[in-house]
Amino acid sequence: MDLMEYQAKELFAKHGVPVLPGETVDTPEAARGVAERIGKPVVVKAQVKTGGRGKAGGVKLADTPEEAVARATDILGLDIKGHLVRKVLVTEASDIDTEYYVSFLLDRANRSYLAMASAEGGMEIEQLAVERPEALAKVPVDAVKGVDETKAREIVAAAKIPADVADQVTAIVQSLWQVFVEEEATLVEVNPLCRTPDGRIVALDGKVTLDGNAEFRHKDVFSAYADVVADDDLEGRAKAKDLNYVKLDGQVGIIGNGAGLVMSTLDVVAYAGEKHGGVKPANFLDIGGGASAQVMADGLEIILSDPDVKSVFVNVFGGITSCDAVADGIVQALGMLGDAAHKPLVVRLDGNNVDEGHRILSEANLPQVTVVDTMDGAADKAAELAGAAL
Ligand SMILES: Nc1ncnc2c1ncn2[C@@H]1O[C@H](COP(=O)(O)OP(=O)(O)OP(=O)(O)O)[C@@H](O)[C@H]1O
Ligand SMILES: [Mg+2]
Repeated sequence: MDLMEYQAKELFAKHGVPVLPGETVDTPEAARGVAERIGKPVVVKAQVKTGGRGKAGGVKLADTPEEAVARATDILGLDIKGHLVRKVLVTEASDIDTEYYVSFLLDRANRSYLAMASAEGGMEIEQLAVERPEALAKVPVDAVKGVDETKAREIVAAAKIPADVADQVTAIVQSLWQVFVEEEATLVEVNPLCRTPDGRIVALDGKVTLDGNAEFRHKDVFSAYADVVADDDLEGRAKAKDLNYVKLDGQVGIIGNGAGLVMSTLDVVAYAGEKHGGVKPANFLDIGGGASAQVMADGLEIILSDPDVKSVFVNVFGGITSCDAVADGIVQALGMLGDAAHKPLVVRLDGNNVDEGHRILSEANLPQVTVVDTMDGAADKAAELAGAAL
């Protein structure tokens, strides 16, 4: 689960990483009260789960409470890369001497953790990594040993953080590692880690991704930070129905049973799509082993309500749940959905009791359903139908 900046900073504060006082508000008028309580110039910051807020006009300075109201008016309701700003953080403005960068992340390629740090933060770190890779230190972190003071010093030295603040930054790096481990994050990033003109170090921004697989150990944090309005409505609705669904940016809706089969279905559809106007899979959806009619209906309902979806590919290998049960599920699901299920559906069944499955589908005589025997053939048909509807 990605956290917003203010949530990340709450976790920072809990583990002793210095942050500036601030409060989130959802109306411009409420920004006045916060600015008055802070009693100094403030920065009004859009709280959305996407980067580049500053460039998009989502981070503004306000010298007075009146200005804070005006800046909150500007920022609330902004659309930043498809994310509507519903909340702003009003936080103390800091004088900035230098901006540093520090992060911990999962390094999947090396099956380890990685610290990245730089004395040249602030700008987009991806750009720094490309243009001046020598300025971005990458230090592998042993998962068992973690980050003790010695390791933190190694990271700070590799980042070329000036000696006069090295002790402060070392302590902060250790605290950030505590955030990473104790909150079970897969990403902790501070950009900028600010050095003030009088030599204090403070985290002005924070990005944290918590490991969803560890939710059961952190119920309090997850429930406190769960989105009231789901990030992506489709994903929120799928989650409420206990479906393993991930929205992607293509046009061919995908339903399959078993994560491996669904992953390879995404691949064959992406490959077939190249011949049909570049269409791609619109989602990942694994309905699992016991695909009842209800689960099929729930899955189809989510996928068909995605406006990007132009065709649907149902790819099922009958095992414990045999093909006839799946075919029944499809027929019943389309019956339940009625007029909502008008988009073309390509069905490929194989495995246990496949002939009976085919018989059920052909007897049902559903105009929107095309049965194709092979996975590649079905992927091609689904991509063709989606391409034709573009
Ligand atoms: N409290 C603050 N006081 C002074 N300047 C700030 C403060 N917060 C942010 N800034 C300035 O605004 C810039 C952008 O802010 P921030 O890093 O929070 O957002 P961003 O980097 O644009 O967003 P994202 O991290 O989502 O890409 C910072 O690099 C810093 O120069
Ligand atoms: Mg930033």
